[in-house]
Amino acid sequence: MIILVVGSGGREHALAWKIAQSPLVKRLVCAPGNPGMAALGEIRAVAAADVTGQVALAREIGADLVVVGPEIALEAGLADALEDVGIACFGASARAARIETSKAFMKAFAARHGLPTAAHRVFETADEAATYLATLTAPYVIKADGLTAGKGVTIAANLAEARAAVDDCLGGRFGSAGARVVIEEFMTGEEVSLFALGDGETGLLFGAAQDHKRAFDGDQGPNTGGMGAYAPAPALTPTLEAVARQQLIDPAIRGLTTEGTPYRGVLYAGLMLTPTGPRLVEFNARFGDPECQVLMMRLESDVVPYLLAAARGGLADLPAPIWRDEAAICVVLAAKGYPQAPQAGSVIGLPDGVPDEGVVIFHAGTARREDGALVAAGGRVLNVCARGRDLAEARARAYGAIDRVDWPEGFHRRDIGWRAL
Ligand code: AMP
Ligand code: GLY
Repeated sequence: MIILVVGSGGREHALAWKIAQSPLVKRLVCAPGNPGMAALGEIRAVAAADVTGQVALAREIGADLVVVGPEIALEAGLADALEDVGIACFGASARAARIETSKAFMKAFAARHGLPTAAHRVFETADEAATYLATLTAPYVIKADGLTAGKGVTIAANLAEARAAVDDCLGGRFGSAGARVVIEEFMTGEEVSLFALGDGETGLLFGAAQDHKRAFDGDQGPNTGGMGAYAPAPALTPTLEAVARQQLIDPAIRGLTTEGTPYRGVLYAGLMLTPTGPRLVEFNARFGDPECQVLMMRLESDVVPYLLAAARGGLADLPAPIWRDEAAICVVLAAKGYPQAPQAGSVIGLPDGVPDEGVVIFHAGTARREDGALVAAGGRVLNVCARGRDLAEARARAYGAIDRVDWPEGFHRRDIGWRAL
């Protein structure tokens, strides 16, 4: 098979790494890819959300399957455009992806299908939002409606902060993504990312992980896309997983089908394990980043039949995926200044020679300079991942490898996995 992987982050590097191990794959192309992915397949300079360019590339190489990593490509309609030309796509249509790309849509969808989630209201004017806020108690949860790369959520400790977040959002800080603001009830509990594949009819659970969203140790500092992850997720017991499947995943896949937007790809449910059971924080139409990295590290089964079945149908005929009886961890190395203003261009020295046992380093935001040096080219730059018999061993291996990375301009958290240890 010929497979095209769309995207350039650590999530896509991990997907490409696992796909490249499949005996079914004859040719792997990544666009736009990154220097790490260049070791696994061909790299083509087509931006992820360049729908015309990606479709042309898929046709040129005769792709049997296109695997879409990032949500921006889904929102831009890449899955729809590939369907029009008859190329199988692992990734949701733009309409189905609204469960991620519009929080207002997601909340209304959850209400239509009885999915447990925080109570909410949507506003287009600051005055109405302020009147509603005055009826609530702190902390306040304020969200921009559209895609903001994880920056559109504020948990405000007091009313003044909450109003400022509303004004910011409606005032244009996120462009059209902030034209509507969602205010929701605050939920408490441990957070877990649960994944399921959908093929338009059936849903199949595809692993769970926990990530760390705050920038600094002790879960302090600003929210980020994720500074590290680990799997399995001990907080999600088999009982809670079954409840989440029955109350959230299955009705969501069914609901998307009955609403005429059958779901093909991966459905990521961000769950809050509240005292009254799992409740939905958000849906995403893609794998989590860095959760995907730990899923791929633990996945024993060949990933390609699953991606293909999600794209073409037939998930019901596949067995549940097999996971290694090991723990996996991912520690994100970010450029200083991330998430506000990461500094680009610093040179990274990766350890040479034989990699440490059980360790894989995925590239997330790197580039090759003309002289061949590897440099930082994004906020989250490297993902140092490791497997071990348990989380403690995996973690020791990951931090051991990090200590051999020569990159003074980067930073990382030293406490990934603390909740589970
Ligand atoms: P989101 O982008 O919707 O996942 O929100 C980012 C983060 O904000 C989540 O991972 C939670 O930690 C937090 N959050 C979002 N919504 C709520 C809520 N209703 N109650 C408590 N925390 C929330
Ligand atoms: N790690 C959280 C996300 O991918 O949204």
